[in-house]
Amino acid sequence: MKLVIYAKRLYTSIGNSPKRGHQMSQLEKLENIFICVEDGKIVEFLNHKPRSADFLLEGDLVVPGFVDCHTHIPFYGYREQDFLRRVSGLSYSQIHNSGGGIYESVSKLRGATFKELVRFNLNLTKIFLRKGVTTIECKTGYGLDEENELKQFRVIEILKKISPIDVIPTFMGAHAIPKGFNQQDYIDYLIKTLDLVKDKCDFVDIFCDTGAFDIYNTQRYLEAAREKGFKLRIHANELSNIGAVKIAVQMNAISADHLLKIDDKDIEFLSQSGTTAVLMPTTSFYLNETYAPARKLIDNGAAIALGSDFNPGSSPVIEPSLVMNLAVRFLGMSPQEILSAYTINSACVLGIADRLGTVEIGKEADFVIYKDADLETIMYFIGIVPKYIVKRGQIFEN
Ligand code: NIG
Ligand code: FE
Repeated sequence: MKLVIYAKRLYTSIGNSPKRGHQMSQLEKLENIFICVEDGKIVEFLNHKPRSADFLLEGDLVVPGFVDCHTHIPFYGYREQDFLRRVSGLSYSQIHNSGGGIYESVSKLRGATFKELVRFNLNLTKIFLRKGVTTIECKTGYGLDEENELKQFRVIEILKKISPIDVIPTFMGAHAIPKGFNQQDYIDYLIKTLDLVKDKCDFVDIFCDTGAFDIYNTQRYLEAAREKGFKLRIHANELSNIGAVKIAVQMNAISADHLLKIDDKDIEFLSQSGTTAVLMPTTSFYLNETYAPARKLIDNGAAIALGSDFNPGSSPVIEPSLVMNLAVRFLGMSPQEILSAYTINSACVLGIADRLGTVEIGKEADFVIYKDADLETIMYFIGIVPKYIVKRGQIFEN
């Protein structure tokens, strides 16, 4: 089947490697271009209409499918009361320490049947797709024991097969310290569990923060994971600064995520490292917290990726236009930098930039098509809906 997309304007980064600093604003802009797709891949660009096509779609704006490199799918059920408690003055940590927060999601997940979990999370992936997000990362971390972490992996396996979007798994057993464990013992337990999940994912993540895992346990856990061949990611400096960025850089982590509470030294470390800063402004918005110093990071030469942190506690948001709007407003990023961060740089974090993250010949046909829009429009209009989404050459219409 031959699919052709006429784009009045196409914006994309070029290549398979992360864009750093000023490179983030360098996009290719093609106008009045016909993108030809065969067998799910981009085969050529023409500046005239080809003679034959099975389908011809038209759009005013075409961008690569958004890659959300940080979500906490799969989970089960929501936490509306957390939201109301926070608005009435309790902090995220107070709720967590009183046994709510992540622990509430852990009991909901443990209590759900496999079928319920698949239905609930499959539906969420379909919402992502309709909003133009064609790839997401999925983390475990609401199981907190072998049985339930593996249950989450089984859900992810099914999502990989039946969901319309790409799903890239991460093991995050180190999300919280389960009741009845001290953190030393739990980390020992997780280190043993690593062998069980080795064939299920390439990444491990740990929540290194006050009230979660300390520097000592983070370091020994990540060392064990690295030895077993995992790529490392860290929830760093989300609630406080206990030195997580330094560990991320020293351990050559693929990403340090959140970074709400970092200082100039951390900015310097990150900027000189190969660790990508994954920023999620909807979490700051939802927790009514500070925003990561994105501008300083970019100006110092760091690579930034954007994500939603979609989860039932600190960021119940599937809305790429809001992520981008907050990135303009509070991260001080330009529309061009935002597009690079949300496509190629996120794809690089997930290790899939050879096939996704840009609109180029040889890559998968994975893009979002808007009517009546330019690049700025999709960051200004919160809730804008794309007309079509093309995923591996398959067309979805809104
Ligand atoms: O990235 N900080 C830890 N994990 C999530 C929140 C998870 C939850 O509240 O359920 C985060 O903010
Ligand atoms: Fe997170």
